[in-house]
Amino acid sequence: MLRLFAVFVLICSLLAPAWAQEAVVTPRAETGGAQTLDDILRRQSAQKVDDTFRSSVTGDPEAAAPISEALGTRGGQSDPDLWRALRYDTADVTSQSRGPAATTLIQDGGMWWLKFREGPLLVYGAALLGGTLLLLALFYLVRGRIRIDGEKTGRTITRFKAVERFGHWLLAGSFLILGVTGLISLFGRKVLIPAFGHDAFSTLAIGTKWIHNNISWAFIVALVIIFVFWVGHNLPDRTDLKWLAKGGGIIGGGHPPAKKFNAGQKLIFWSVILLGASISVSGISLLFPFELNIFGSTFGLLNDWGVSGWVGLDPLPYPLSPQEEMQYSQLWHAIVSLVLTAIIFAHIYIGSIGMEGAFDAMGSGDVEEQWAREHHSLWVEEVQKAGLRQGKEV
Ligand code: HEM
Repeated sequence: MLRLFAVFVLICSLLAPAWAQEAVVTPRAETGGAQTLDDILRRQSAQKVDDTFRSSVTGDPEAAAPISEALGTRGGQSDPDLWRALRYDTADVTSQSRGPAATTLIQDGGMWWLKFREGPLLVYGAALLGGTLLLLALFYLVRGRIRIDGEKTGRTITRFKAVERFGHWLLAGSFLILGVTGLISLFGRKVLIPAFGHDAFSTLAIGTKWIHNNISWAFIVALVIIFVFWVGHNLPDRTDLKWLAKGGGIIGGGHPPAKKFNAGQKLIFWSVILLGASISVSGISLLFPFELNIFGSTFGLLNDWGVSGWVGLDPLPYPLSPQEEMQYSQLWHAIVSLVLTAIIFAHIYIGSIGMEGAFDAMGSGDVEEQWAREHHSLWVEEVQKAGLRQGKEV
C-alpha cells in the first residue's frame, strides 16, 4: 500500500509542470481582467503582448458611480485609471509648458529604446570596434607594412594642396574628438560610473557633452570642404572594377593601375560623405530637440511603398510621438557613428603604419614619385601630361 502511495506521489510530481502549463491558457476573466500568466510569459520571452485589457481601461464617466457614493470616483476615473491613461498617453493633460512633448508625462513606448540603448547597442558597438582593431592587428601581422617596392627616386610630386590638407585635418581632428566624447556619453554609465563614481562622471559628462555639441559644426564644415575638393576625383569608373577584381593588389600581387583615388579610397570617401551627412542630420535633430522630425515622415513614406513587407516585416511605427522621434534619432546617430568609426580605423591604419609613404600625402602634401607610380600610376601620367609635375632634386 505504501509503495502504491509512493508511485502516486511520483506521478503527481511528474505531472505538476504540465498542470502549471495549463495555467498558461487561463482566460483573462479568471484574473478579473488583469494580466495573465500567459501575458507575463510572453513579455519575458520578448513576444508581443496584447495589452488592450490595460490600455483601454482608463475610466468611463458614463458607467461611474457618483463621487458621493461608496467607491464613486471623480469624473469616472479612479487613480489607477488615470495612471493608465497617462501611461498610454490618452489622458487629457493640460500644462503650462508649451513644448511639443510637454503633455506626454509617461512614455511607455520608450522602454524598448531604453533597454536597447543600455544593452545590445553597447555590446554590439564594442564588438564592432574591438573586432575591427583585432582584424587590423591580424592583417598587420600577416601582411606587414606595404613597402615601396621599387627604388626611390628622391623626387616628389605634390598630391594635396594646403587647403585640401586643412579640410582633411579639420575633418579628422573633429571626428576623433567627436568619437571619443560620443563613446564617453554612450558607455559612461556602464563603464565609467562603476570605475570612477557618479561625481567624477557627472563633471566629465557635462564637459564631454559641451565639447561634442560644439565641435560638431567643425565636422560639418570640413565635410563640405572635402566634398567640394574631392568629389570630382571620386566618381566611379572602369579602372575601379579592375582594381577591385585584384583586391587592390592582394589577389595576384602587383599594383593595379589607379587614378588619383583608387576604388578602396573611393569607398572610404563615399562612406565618409554619406554616413557623415547622415550623422550630421541626426545630430542636428538631437541638438535641437523636437524641432527636426525626420523619422516619422520617413517611416510614413516607407510604409506607403510597402518596404517592410518586402522582407516580411510589419509596417514601421507611424505616426511617431515627439519622444519617439528623438529615440530613433539617438539610435541612428549612435549606430551610424559606430559603423563610420570602424571604417575610419581601417583608413587610419592604411594612412599611417599600414603603408610606407602614404602619410606624406597628408603630412607635407608631397609624395615620393616611386610611391605615386606604384599606387596611382594613371594619376602620375595625368599630372605629367598636364605638365603639372613638380620635381624636387634632393
Ligand atoms: C587621424 C588619423 C588619420 C590619418 C593618419 C589619415 C591619413 C590620410 C592620408 C595619408 C590620406 C591620403 C591618402 C592618399 O594619399 O591617397 C587620407 C585621405 C582621406 N582621409 Fe584621412 N586620415 C586620418 C583620419 C581621417 C578621418 C577621421 C576621416 C573622416 C572622418 C578621414 C577621411 C579621409 C578621406 C575621405 C580621404 C580621401 C580618400 C582616401 O584617401 O581614403 N581621414 N587620410
